[in-house]
Amino acid sequence: MTGQKTIMKVSMADDSAGPGREQVRLVPLRWWHVDDVVVLERDIFAVDAWTAELFWSELAQGSTRHYLAAVRGGRIVGYGGLATYGDESYVQTLGVATDVRGGGVGTRLLVALLRHARTCGAHRCELEVRTDNSAARSLYHRLGFVDLGVRKAYYQPSGADAYVMSAPRIHTGDYGEMLDAVELAVSR
Ligand SMILES: CC(C)(COP(=O)(O)OP(=O)(O)OC[C@H]1O[C@@H](n2cnc3c(N)ncnc32)[C@H](O)[C@@H]1OP(=O)(O)O)[C@@H](O)C(=O)NCCC(=O)NCCS
Repeated sequence: MTGQKTIMKVSMADDSAGPGREQVRLVPLRWWHVDDVVVLERDIFAVDAWTAELFWSELAQGSTRHYLAAVRGGRIVGYGGLATYGDESYVQTLGVATDVRGGGVGTRLLVALLRHARTCGAHRCELEVRTDNSAARSLYHRLGFVDLGVRKAYYQPSGADAYVMSAPRIHTGDYGEMLDAVELAVSR
């Protein structure tokens, strides 16, 4: 998805937070979530935000797409999307509300997307991320993504550069165990 802000940007995932933390559930992102997601999206990505039409278009792609919303107390606090073609998956987008960051929601969303990629038979997962986005890059490194290169002026209209990152061999048992360990760590 060149020219988009992302990263090139299921099973029903229903997830619970650990004890002592307000529950956040991961649910499939549906058309009735789009208005709320777009408000969050503008807050997170500003000029590079996806439009409602782009989210609609993504949701209309059917089985090649897997979008999740993180919901806490009826409010959408995060979302993420994945595209899969053959043995390759792409993280299409990932965002968490500013007041909820640092609580593991981004990790849980990404782990759920990667689990879905594995279920679809993907062997690797790619994404693009702004070169100045250290929080996201840290999260991606933790889940085994490595830098492949830089795409100049990838994000439009801002013109920001993106790293292309890839997680190889996500179909392996070792990778699945790593996902389990990372998820357990953020659930505590
Ligand atoms: C990237 C993002 C999705 C992470 O969501 P989150 O819910 O805060 O993530 P988590 O709480 O699971 O933390 C994941 C990692 O992010 C990093 N991180 C989280 N908050 C951070 C902060 N305030 N400063 C620096 N790093 C931070 C940490 O490395 C953390 O790993 P750790 O637990 O080992 O410290 C969120 O920061 C976000 O929405 N950012 C803006 C949108 C974006 O960059 N999307 C991805 C690229 S398109």
